[in-house]
This record gives sequence, C-alpha cells and structure tokens, in this order.
Amino acid sequence: MGNYFAKFSAFGSFAPARILTNKDLEKMVDTSDEWIRSRTGMVERHIASKEEAASDLAYQAALNAIEASDVKYKDIDMIVVATISGDHPFPSTACLLQHKLGLKNVPAFDVSAGCTGFIYACDVARQYVENGGASNVLAVGVEILTKITNWTDRNTCVLFGDAAGAAVISRAEPTDISRIIDIKLDADGSMGDYLIQMAGGSRLPASHETVDANQHTVYMEGNRIFKSAVKSMYASSDELLRRNNLTSADVDWVIPHQANLRIIEALADKMKVPINKVIINIQKYGNTSSATVPLATDEAIRSKKIRRGDILLLTSFGAGLTWGSVLARY
Ligand code: UT7
Repeated sequence: MGNYFAKFSAFGSFAPARILTNKDLEKMVDTSDEWIRSRTGMVERHIASKEEAASDLAYQAALNAIEASDVKYKDIDMIVVATISGDHPFPSTACLLQHKLGLKNVPAFDVSAGCTGFIYACDVARQYVENGGASNVLAVGVEILTKITNWTDRNTCVLFGDAAGAAVISRAEPTDISRIIDIKLDADGSMGDYLIQMAGGSRLPASHETVDANQHTVYMEGNRIFKSAVKSMYASSDELLRRNNLTSADVDWVIPHQANLRIIEALADKMKVPINKVIINIQKYGNTSSATVPLATDEAIRSKKIRRGDILLLTSFGAGLTWGSVLARY
C-alpha cells in the first residue's frame, strides 16, 4: 500500500487515416469477408502510412489525453510506453515521444508485454504515483503491427490494425471519487513460442536468410492461444474482484482486449456480464495489440457511455504470454 491513491485523469487515442476492409483483404490472400466476420468479428482496420511510426501515433494519442485532462504539459513527470513495434529497437519510443511533446528531464521508458502492455504500463504508473515518485504519468499503448505482418499469411494478416491509446494517471486527491482500485499482472514464459517475432534480436540477428524466411514478422498459433486468452483474462479479473470484495455485478463496464469477438463473448459469458456492459470496437479497428484497451476506453468515454464514477474492469492478454486486469473507478 502506497502513501497516495492513483486515478485515471483522462484518456486519448489516435488511429491512422487509411482503412483496410475485409473486401480489400479478399484481393490479397485466400480469405473472405464472411470468414473474417464470423471467426473474428472484424470488418475493417486502420493501417499506418509508410511515413508513420509508433511515436507519431503515440504523440497524437498523448495530446488527446493531456488535452482531455486538467493536467498541464509541464506537470507530466513520467512517460511509459507499451509497445512491441516501436520506431526502433532502441532508443525507446517513450524517449522519442518525450522529445515530440517538448518535455525535458522526465524519465521515459518502454515496457514490452505484447497486447497486455498497456495494463503493465498502468501498473508501473500506479506504483510510482502511489509511492509519491511521480504525480502525473503518461501511459501509452501503441502498435504498428502491420509493418511486421506477413502479408502472405492469411492466419495472421487479416487480424491486425494500427492505433495508439493513452491515459494520464495522476495522484488522486482525498476528495476524488476516481481511483485505480487494484491491478493484477501475470505471465507464463513457457508459452512464448506461440506468439513471437522470431528474428531481429540477439537469438537470431537480422540476415538475408531471416528476411527471406519471413522471420521478422508476427508468428502466431492462434487456436492454441484462444483458450488461454479466455481462461487467463477471466482468472485475473475474477481474482481482482474477489480480493476487493466485489462481484461482476458491481462492474459498470468491462473493457477487454479486442483480439477476437468470440473471445470477448466467451469471457463475458464466463464472467456472467451482459454483453451490453462490454465495450467492443473490434469491428472498426481489428487487433491493435497494446492499443486496444485504451482506444476502446477512450471511445466509450467520448461517446458518453463511460461516465465519471463508473466501475471499470480493463483486461488483456498477449505475447509472453502475459495477461492482467485493472479495476478502477473512473
Ligand atoms: O492479441 C494477442 C492474442 N491473440 C489472440 O488472442 C488470438 C487468438 N486466436 C484467434 O483469435 C483465432 O484462433 C484466429 C482468429 C486466429 C483463428 O480462428 P480459428 O477459429 O482458431 O481458426 P483456425 O486457426 O483453427 O483455422 C480454421 C480454418 C483452417 O482451415 P482448415 O485447416 O480447417 O482447412 C485455416 O486454414 O480456417 C482457415 N483460416 C482461414 N480461412 C479463411 C485461417 N485463417 C483464415 C482466413 N481466411 N483469414
């Protein structure tokens, strides 16, 4: 337990302009609009341009989040970016974002937890705020997976889209109703091979051979991951609720990772949460990895579905494998 409480001050998001539809994909690989809709719930996704990199999307989402908050730029005192498709292997995308925002002398670093990255970033932010080490942390989830997609592999190329989502996580005043109640993180490295970018690191450095073998793109064993996705998001959400003496009936909105509509529906079913209390935007964006949860939360706030005081359960799952959930009163 820290000295203070942390809260979500505001959210922001951004998606690039270009849209790729299921119909467009029909012309690229052996797939169909019907298969993609019925197996995933996806209809279209946004794709970054050649010129756009992760820090560009992160910058727009960060601006939106800071503008929606009552926090001044100069009062942001830490930046945490969750990404597995940053501008470069190094330096961190967080440092590039710090420079774009014109902020100086604030710590900035990336976290790598696949699609669970934003949940991990929230916990890092929360820990600093609760312990008094920071007052206003910018936590971002950003991904341009379409630049590390194998566009000849129908098993993966229909799934991903590009976007960024951001939150300003601030110290809560004793009078605030808003508060991050609790966060649960988890990981199981034994299943790392199921979702992996094989080459480009120290295990398999970049070479002509790795490029020819498509080893710099996303490899995923989708159906192996499907079952663990439901099980693990349920487990961390259930534990969070239990240890805070709440049940799923107390939750106003569940905001799950948007990887597959069937996963989302199975999770809602297992949690006994009616589907109209679940935020879903997978049809418009596909799987934007670490950006799905803050993007969906931001959209739901801006459309006035989510209101101040609502109990939110954010939950995600991804490469690592990693998973985790955030319980908060917005
Ligand atoms: O965000 C990180 C975490 N990721 C996830 O949580 C993803 C979890 N997994 C999934 O969402 C699903 O497993 C997928 C959407 C990836 C795949 O759906 P599935 O129902 O598990 O399909 P499958 O992989 O078992 O494949 C079923 C069939 C296969 O054909 P055969 O072998 O039965 O003839 C595939 O070749 O569907 C075929 N298929 C396709 N057909 C048309 C696979 N991709 C496509 C496609 N279009 N794009």
